[in-house]
Amino acid sequence: MKMKKILSVVLVAACTISMAACGSNASKSNGSDNSSSDSSDTLVMATNAEFPPYEYYDGDEIVGIDAEFAAAIADKLGMKLKIEDMAFDSIIPAVQGGKADFGAAGITVTDERKTQVDFSDSYYTGRQVIIVTEDSTIASPDDLEGKKMGVQLGTTGDLYVSGDYGDENVERFNKGFEAVQSLLQGKIDAVVIDDQPAKAFVAENDGLKILDTEYIEEEYAFCFKKDSKLVDQVNEAIASLQADGTFDKIVAKYITAE
Ligand code: ARG
Repeated sequence: MKMKKILSVVLVAACTISMAACGSNASKSNGSDNSSSDSSDTLVMATNAEFPPYEYYDGDEIVGIDAEFAAAIADKLGMKLKIEDMAFDSIIPAVQGGKADFGAAGITVTDERKTQVDFSDSYYTGRQVIIVTEDSTIASPDDLEGKKMGVQLGTTGDLYVSGDYGDENVERFNKGFEAVQSLLQGKIDAVVIDDQPAKAFVAENDGLKILDTEYIEEEYAFCFKKDSKLVDQVNEAIASLQADGTFDKIVAKYITAE
């Protein structure tokens, strides 16, 4: 507790110093594009761009449903969007600490996270699914007992699998794709991850399949610092972009109906 307090004081001090340091030459080095996170016309989005089709790199640009939807929302609010890529389990701390204005990363609403951040209305239904190799004997969640499962660190997949099958059976990776690599190398028996990234990873690699029985269904939403005034504005923007078909258009660009 005490440590946290000291840390935040140090952080505030560091920010103040760096702002002061930037102040003198910011206009020269940045030109007219003022995209610093403290600028009042810029919304800073924290994400983890390892999660196709919601957020991933296309060259050095972060694209995907969340990236485009957030840009449309920022536009509605008359603001610019700046995307900060980080580890998935850094997103909520970044939002809590004010380093980012909101988190958008296919983030599942959970009761535990609700104690840490506020969520927008949900904009998508996700599912945790199980990826195995094509020749696997695992056919349903029941067969996972005692098997080695790969997850992305700090995700709901991590939470549920650890809770249901025991910590000792879970291997945590920084990126979902690394879990899939490990499965391909035969080091683990299954990967539990959200359905759309699962489809993307399976499409990119031979010899993998997704089990028909999904593991759990969940809702995605954007997260904000507790009591942030942005939540209501963003909810209005979400509703209007859903009503006018913009959201569906963005989804259709990244997810082809099967
Ligand atoms: N829906 C899961 C969760 O909230 C996984 C999200 C992972 N997102 C990402 N951009 N890596 O825990």
